[in-house]
Amino acid sequence: MSNPEDHQGTRRDFIYYATAGAGAVVTGAAVWPLVNQMNPSADVLALASIRVDVSAIDPGTQMTVLFQGKPVFIRRRTEEEIAEARAVDVADLIDREANNANLADSDPATDENRALDEAGEWLVQSGVCTHLGCVPVGDGAGEFGGWFCPCHGSHYDTAGRIRKGPAPRNLPIPEASFVDETTIQLG
Ligand code: FES
Repeated sequence: MSNPEDHQGTRRDFIYYATAGAGAVVTGAAVWPLVNQMNPSADVLALASIRVDVSAIDPGTQMTVLFQGKPVFIRRRTEEEIAEARAVDVADLIDREANNANLADSDPATDENRALDEAGEWLVQSGVCTHLGCVPVGDGAGEFGGWFCPCHGSHYDTAGRIRKGPAPRNLPIPEASFVDETTIQLG
């Protein structure tokens, strides 16, 4: 159950971006300046954790929330996305570390170490490209069916792992956990 403070933080931190279709490629490059202009107030920036109601996210869609001033993608993956991510050999990856704040630094970037739940349905990750900080577009974008950063052409797979382009690291996974069946806590 979330307390009133959680609710306030969640509501104020919600930002929905257009993420579908060809128009999103243009939108993706423009989002970060927009986020900066919003100038989240100090109290929002300081929130150590927020709770997000994910009950409205259907499989194959995602929600973007602002957490500590930066976008976080919460995606509910399809069976196909999960299978695709799990079929990848870690040895073939550019960044072989999970880059998951909930695990040890050296843990490998298997899909199991990236997903929030055991079945792999939920992927929670930073929405900031590890190259120079643009916001990648999602919903199957790019050559690996995950996210594509239009700024300099970085392709991330369905587990948010960098597969091609100048970005050096997998999209970071923040501290996250389910507090009940439909609520994810960040931080
Ligand atoms: S900022 Fe994403 S590819 Fe350069």
